[in-house]
Parts: sequence; C-alpha cells; structure tokens
Amino acid sequence: MVQSLADVRKPESPAELAWLEAHWMPFTANRQFKAAPRLFTHAAGAYYTDAQGRKVFDGLSGLWCTGLGHGREEIVQAVSRQIQTLDYAPAFQFGHPLSFELANRIVGHMPAGLDHVMFAGGSGSDAVDTALKIARAYWRVRGQGGKTRLIGRAQGYHGVNFGGISVGGIVGNRKLFGQGIEAAHLADLQPPAGSFFRGAPEEHGVELANSLVSLIKIHDASNIAAVIVEPFAGSAGVIIPPRGYLARLREICTEHDILLIFDEVITGFGRCGAWTGAEAFGVTPDLMTFAKQSTNGTQPLSGCVVKKDVYDTFMAAGAQEYLLELPHGYTYSAHPVACAAGLATFELLERDHAPERVRELAPYFEKAVHGLRGARHVADIRNYGLAAGFTLEPVPGEPARRPFEVAMAMFNKGFYVRYGGATVQLAPPFVSTPAEIDRLIDALGETFNHTD
Ligand SMILES: Cc1ncc(COP(=O)(O)O)c(C=O)c1O
Repeated sequence: MVQSLADVRKPESPAELAWLEAHWMPFTANRQFKAAPRLFTHAAGAYYTDAQGRKVFDGLSGLWCTGLGHGREEIVQAVSRQIQTLDYAPAFQFGHPLSFELANRIVGHMPAGLDHVMFAGGSGSDAVDTALKIARAYWRVRGQGGKTRLIGRAQGYHGVNFGGISVGGIVGNRKLFGQGIEAAHLADLQPPAGSFFRGAPEEHGVELANSLVSLIKIHDASNIAAVIVEPFAGSAGVIIPPRGYLARLREICTEHDILLIFDEVITGFGRCGAWTGAEAFGVTPDLMTFAKQSTNGTQPLSGCVVKKDVYDTFMAAGAQEYLLELPHGYTYSAHPVACAAGLATFELLERDHAPERVRELAPYFEKAVHGLRGARHVADIRNYGLAAGFTLEPVPGEPARRPFEVAMAMFNKGFYVRYGGATVQLAPPFVSTPAEIDRLIDALGETFNHTD
C-alpha cells in the first residue's frame, strides 16, 4: 500500500498508480503525468529538488512567480510571524493593517494615477474577473449600463474564470466550456514564423491597434465597457507588442470612453525590467491586475489597481454610508498571511533592485536565447525582459507534441521549462547568474537538436 510521497518513484504497481489517482491535476496531462510523475519536494534559490533528489534549475520561476528565488528567509520569517500573530481576519466590513500597508506599497510602484487597490481572492483569474466586473459596474454607476461588452485579444490569456476565458483568446481554454460573457477580440500579435524579433518589433504597432477601431465600428463604443490586454502575452508564448501598439490602444480607448485594463499578472513587479509593463512600455491603463510575483510565489495574493476616477465614481454614487459601494470580494481577499508575504516580497524587490537587475541581465539573456536561431525545429524566438518564447515547427497534425518532448528531455537533464501549444517558454529567476543562463540555453539547444 502506498502511504506517502516517499513510496512514489516511477509508479509500477497498481497500488502506486491508484495513489496518484485521487488528485485530478490542473492544466496537466493526468494520464501521462501519473505514468511518470515529476514531483518537486524542496526548493532553494533558483533550483528545485525533485522526489529523486535531483537538482532542477527553475527555468520558469515556478509559474512566472518566484523571481527572487525560492526560500527567501525574510519571507519565510514574515509568514511564520504573521500566522502566529493574526492568522485570519474577516475580509468584509472588518480589516487588518497589513492590507493598507501593502496597498500603499503597491501604489508606490504604479504609474501616476493608479492609486487604489482592490485585492482579489489570490489568483490571477480572480484579479481579472474583479477588473472586468469593476469596469462594467463603473459604467452602470455612471448611468451607461449598456456598456457591457469586453474586448480581449486573440491569443490573450486572462485566467480560467468565466470572465477570463471569455476575453481570453486561446481556443483550447475556451472550447469545452460553452457560452461565456459578451466579448470580442482584437487581432493577435503573433509575428510571422522566422521573424526572430529582439524585444518589441519596430513596425505595424498602430495598424494592429487599429483593429480596435474596427471592433468599435461593429459593436459601437456605447456598448463596450473595457479592453483588456497583457502588456506582453506570456502564456501564448511570450508575444511582444510592436512599438506604438499599446499607446495607440490607449488613444483609442480614451477617445471612445472605453476603459483600458492591463493584465499584469505576469508582467507586474519586475519581469519586464521595470515595476510594471505599463512603466516598461510607457502607457498607463485605467485598471491593472497583478498576482504572481506579488508574494514571490509563497502565498496566493492578487488584485486590481484602479485610477482615482474609478474609485471616486463608486464612492460618490454610494447610498447611505453604511451600505456597500461595490458588492464584490473574496473570503481570502488580502489575507493577512498573504499580505505579510507581500510586504516582505516588496521589501526584497526594492532592496535587491529587482527591476534594475532584470534590466541589466536582459541583454545577456536576449543574446543567449537568440543564439538558438538555426537550432533544429526552431521557427521563431521572441523575448522581453527575462522572458522568452520559442515556436517550434510542428510535428504534422500535432503542434503541441514537440514542445512537450523538449520539456521532458530538459527535465531529464535537470531543467524545468514550460511548454504550451507550439511553444517552449523561459522565465528564469531574476537572481539567475549569466552562467546559469548559459547552462539553460546550452541544454535547450542540445535538446532541440536531438529531438525528432
Ligand atoms: C496574464 C495572466 N492573467 C491571468 C492569469 C491567471 O492567473 P492564475 O493562474 O493565478 O489564476 C495568468 C496566469 O498565467 C496570466 O498569465
């Protein structure tokens, strides 16, 4: 009988296989995984240790969330102290000081004008649905209740809740789930295979953003609440907007009274070599979501930062003072332990000068990843900050097969990388050294060349 993880290596007996069955794993090929489990048991710095005791380089910073490296003592201490002091406080109608302290800390790193934080349940998906609901409610409160349609982008990823999958543009995440909410989608920004752009492409930014004008012509601005985009698309394979694209979206939204939401669940708090994607690309949205890097992966903490005008609109429209202005929130909104982790994380992001560190390392990383141009199967490479995506030529009829095989071969070599669709994705920790980046890229090149 299998009792614990220690008994699971490569499952061979029916009992071992049965033990793995109880957990239906998310976004995972369960049958394949359970036949050859990949289990991590420890983590420190830029490395995991797997159940076999092997060290594995963390080439995606967990899931884009542990940029400062694993096991940071200051965060461990803060979490541990907080659990002993105040393990939970009701999120509604009562509070605790840490959420206010953290909100101020977050606002301090926002572009001017984004100055109120609505914390969400902890996941990026909650943050997105929070932002979408605020956008719709905002227009309703202002007497324009017809503005309900939400506009996303083809290839966009905004989590897995119904709002998020409706504005999301990755077909695999939508097709099983039926009718979502009213949405429409901008044209995607995927460059043609073989472009090998370094950072943001130079051309077609305004032209691509003008696909919003076409959508407004179809739906009319009087029916559109908001546009939501990732500053750069992470999950679709690191797709970078061409220069001028985000600025043009901003212009069109302002001109037509449509709110602009940046989903910064991946791009927020360092990954772009700036505090936010908004800062990196020089464009300020009306609402911004955040999640992953906010606690360095240690606790679920997410939210949405909004402009003063948005907050003030709700406050001004409130009825009697004892009544809510926005009926929205989660039991775990701004959980005190997550806030403690968040405050310790911001302390470290600031002390380690994380955005600057990423900015300094990014050119080295860019040169290294583009060094794989010409490797077998590589159809395109894209990068920004400490993120890169490789599109691989597909096995006929099975575009997702080769990236999966590459990721498995990399894991056998001691490197964790992400695979999704036709792409392999990298997002190494901010604390990675040039030598670690070299080892990661060398292993990836060798793996591409040895994959059928
Ligand atoms: C841009 C973006 N939004 C939302 C999400 C959803 O976050 P979560 O998985 O925490 O729900 C993700 C996750 O990768 C993301 O990249």
